[in-house]
Amino acid sequence: MAVANAVVVLADWFEGLDGHRDDANFLDRAVAEALRLEPPLIGLSRYVFEEVRSGEVTFPANSKVFLMWGAANRDPAAYPEPDSFNPQRATRSVTFGGGEHICPGRFAGTMLARAVIATLLEMRVWPEVEGDHIVWRGNSLANQPEHMPITLSKRAG
Ligand code: HEM
Repeated sequence: MAVANAVVVLADWFEGLDGHRDDANFLDRAVAEALRLEPPLIGLSRYVFEEVRSGEVTFPANSKVFLMWGAANRDPAAYPEPDSFNPQRATRSVTFGGGEHICPGRFAGTMLARAVIATLLEMRVWPEVEGDHIVWRGNSLANQPEHMPITLSKRAG
């Protein structure tokens, strides 16, 4: 899902990415930004055993909370123009959660997506989304395209 979401978001930016194809750091940022916009997991529930305070909010003991990674990733207070793609952003996303339970697979997931993007660039194969928009799967915590209407075309060079 991370690879699919990254390819779908980055398909529109391949010309720009091409100039940075040997820059793993830039490609990692581009993948991170793509997954900020379309995180594979948009939320998870948690159970609070003891009263805990986070910022201005107090969560009482024995309560359920729902962590909305997808919404936090588009918080305009954290990301100016939150819906736009900008691989130069300084603020880290919560695509992989945070704190003690942050996803231990985050480096593997990002690396796989970056490797696929880098390989497509190296092979001069550009993905292009067919139609005017992607239909995202609804009513699910897993965020992925319903279909992958992608055309691959070979570029010169
Ligand atoms: C690239 C796609 C992935 C995304 C978007 C993702 C996202 C997440 C998120 C949001 C959490 C919750 C973190 C929190 O509660 O703060 C999580 C936890 C976790 N992820 Fe991932 N993950 C991905 C890939 C992987 C992979 C490849 C593995 C294993 C190889 C993995 C293993 C885990 C495990 C074991 C936890 C539970 C950690 C804990 O509760 O202590 N994830 N992931």
